[in-house]
Amino acid sequence: MSDSIRPLIAGNWKMNGLAAGLGEAEAVAAALMAEPARARVALCPPATLISRMAERLEGGPVEVGAQDIAADASGAYTGDVSAAMIRDAGGRLVILGHSERRTLHGEDDALVSRKVEAALAEGLEPIVCVGETLAERKAGKAESTVRGQVEGSLPMALQGRAFVLAYEPIWAIGTGLTPSSAEIAAMHADIRAALVGRLGETGLRAPILYGGSVKPANAAEILALPEVSGALVGGASLKATDFLPIIRAV
Ligand code: PGA
Repeated sequence: MSDSIRPLIAGNWKMNGLAAGLGEAEAVAAALMAEPARARVALCPPATLISRMAERLEGGPVEVGAQDIAADASGAYTGDVSAAMIRDAGGRLVILGHSERRTLHGEDDALVSRKVEAALAEGLEPIVCVGETLAERKAGKAESTVRGQVEGSLPMALQGRAFVLAYEPIWAIGTGLTPSSAEIAAMHADIRAALVGRLGETGLRAPILYGGSVKPANAAEILALPEVSGALVGGASLKATDFLPIIRAV
């Protein structure tokens, strides 16, 4: 954990959650109101819940974000949601380049970079995800893959702007597997160097989150590692009873 960067614990609900589940977000907010967290806390529900979640959490300690946006500002893009729409709905952050978008929707670095620009144009704070496959790690290519993603996914427009980088090894997402502490620390150090190489001073200030099977049982160890400034949490962000101990582990 770095002293100068405020940690962020962000929850990614993925394609889970109906209105009935908003109580979980309210429970997280109520607990943090009673006892404030050291970290910033955000929840990224499906697009359909953003405005209702933002209304219910307004003024409280939990920020609301989206899981994706379109690269274009408006127009004939059936089914897509723009940065301005997310902002209008009450979202303030947006996850971009998640491996499920890259793999299942064919998003490449160039598209992610355009989406980051679209987010910045509307004042949304991007959480840009990178991470290697198991085959890439086994082939000794984890660092070079991630470095390439960092360079390709981050537009120069980020200079001077607030953004977040999330390292999520694809093989650790939703599997219960995690890299060793040494592997996480080594990758985060490498990412920091890549961020500074690309963006200079701005790259020094961006929090680097770890994501992939973060749970109450492993959060404290992961969050204590150097250059780990928080976590991007999938499955364990759906229930307040799982998410709160992770927030408290900072
Ligand atoms: P997980 O997902 O915590 O369920 O592994 C993390 C993510 O995909 O952001």
